[in-house]
Amino acid sequence: MNTRPVFHGSDIEKICEYYHLQKENIVNFGANVNPLGLSENVKSAIASHLDLLSSYPDRAYTSLRETIAGYCGIPADFILPGNGSSELISLLIESRMPKHTLILAPTYSEYSRELTFSGSTQEYYHLQEERDFRLDVEDLCRTLENGGYDFLILCNPNNPTSSAIMQDNLRGLIGFCETHDIFVMIDETYVEFAPDISAVTAVPLTTEFQNLMVLRGVSKFFAAPGMRLGYGITGNSTFLRQMREKQIPWSLNSIGAFAGEVMLKDTDYIRKTRALILSERDRLYQALSADPDYKAYQPYANFILLRIMKQGVTSFDVFERCIKKGLMIRDCASFQCLDGEYIRFCIMMPEDNTRLLHQLRGLSVNTDF
Ligand SMILES: Cc1ncc(COP(=O)(O)O)c(C=O)c1O
Repeated sequence: MNTRPVFHGSDIEKICEYYHLQKENIVNFGANVNPLGLSENVKSAIASHLDLLSSYPDRAYTSLRETIAGYCGIPADFILPGNGSSELISLLIESRMPKHTLILAPTYSEYSRELTFSGSTQEYYHLQEERDFRLDVEDLCRTLENGGYDFLILCNPNNPTSSAIMQDNLRGLIGFCETHDIFVMIDETYVEFAPDISAVTAVPLTTEFQNLMVLRGVSKFFAAPGMRLGYGITGNSTFLRQMREKQIPWSLNSIGAFAGEVMLKDTDYIRKTRALILSERDRLYQALSADPDYKAYQPYANFILLRIMKQGVTSFDVFERCIKKGLMIRDCASFQCLDGEYIRFCIMMPEDNTRLLHQLRGLSVNTDF
C-alpha cells in the first residue's frame, strides 16, 4: 500500500510536478469538463468580437438574460448572471445570512468554505451508501424539522456521487422547506448531463416557490471554466434585487456575456455533447458494474463514482496506477462524509475512456501497485 503524498486530488500542476509529467500529456478525468472542448462556433465568434473588451458590458446583462430565459424556459427577470456559479454561491450565502445550515453530503467543498465566512453554523446530512447515495426525502424532512435549520444546500446531480433527486421529490422537499422558513439553494452545475434534464431540474419550481434559488454555469457542459459565466435563477424578486445590490458591478466581463449567448444557442454542440456523454457513460457504467472489484453508482452527471471493493487496494493506489499512464482520475479521499475507498472520473473521449477502463479493470489480473 502506498502512502499518500500531499497534494489535492484536483491540483494538476502539483500532480505533474510530483510525477514529473507534462500537463499536455495528461488526460484529465478529474475536472468534469466536457471533452469536446470549446465549440468552434464560440471560438470564431469570440475571435471576431474582441473589440467588446473596449467597452463595459451592459450592466443589466439584458440580452444575455433573455437568452438564458429562452434556454431555461423561465422569465428573464428571474435571472442573475455572475462570475461563475462560484460567485453566486458566495453572494447567495452573504445575502441570505443563514444562521443554521444543512448541507447534503458528501458534496462539493465550496459550500462549506463559503459558509465559514458567513457566521452560519453548518451540519451535514449524510446520503447513505447503503441506499447508493439516493436521498430519503422523508428522513431529510424529519432532520430539517428537528434541527431548526434556515438554509438547505443541495447539489443536483451531486458531486461526487453523481446521484440525483427527481423533480417530484424536490417539489415535496421545497414545499416542506417553505412551510418551515428554510431557504433552498440547488447547484445544478451538472444538470445538462442528466439522462432526462426535465426529470431532474428544479428550474420550473422557481415559478412555484419563493424559497428557492437554482445555480447553473457554463464551466462543465460548455467546456468553458475560464469564461467564468454562471447564473442564478429565482422567482423571489426581492431576494434577487438584494443579491444584485451586493454584487460587484460588471462582475461578468463583456466577452463572457457575449460568448454565453452564443453557447446557449449552439444546439448542434449541445446535441453532440449529450450524444457523446450519454452513450459513453452507459458503456463505462455497464462495464464497471460487472466488475467485482468495484461498486459503481448509477450516474446522472458526466462522472462516475466507484467504490473499490478489492481488499487492501486504496483509492490512492488506483489513482497512482492511472496517473503513471497519464490518466488523472480523482482520488476521493479528501471528500468529507465519504468513508471508504472511492474514486471518481468524468467521461472523456471514447479512446481515452477505453484506456482508463483497461487500467481500472486490471485490478484482479494485475496487482502491480
Ligand atoms: C458542484 C460544483 N459547483 C460549482 C462549481 C464551480 O463552478 P463555476 O466554474 O461555475 O464557478 C464546481 C466546480 O467543480 C462544482 O463541481
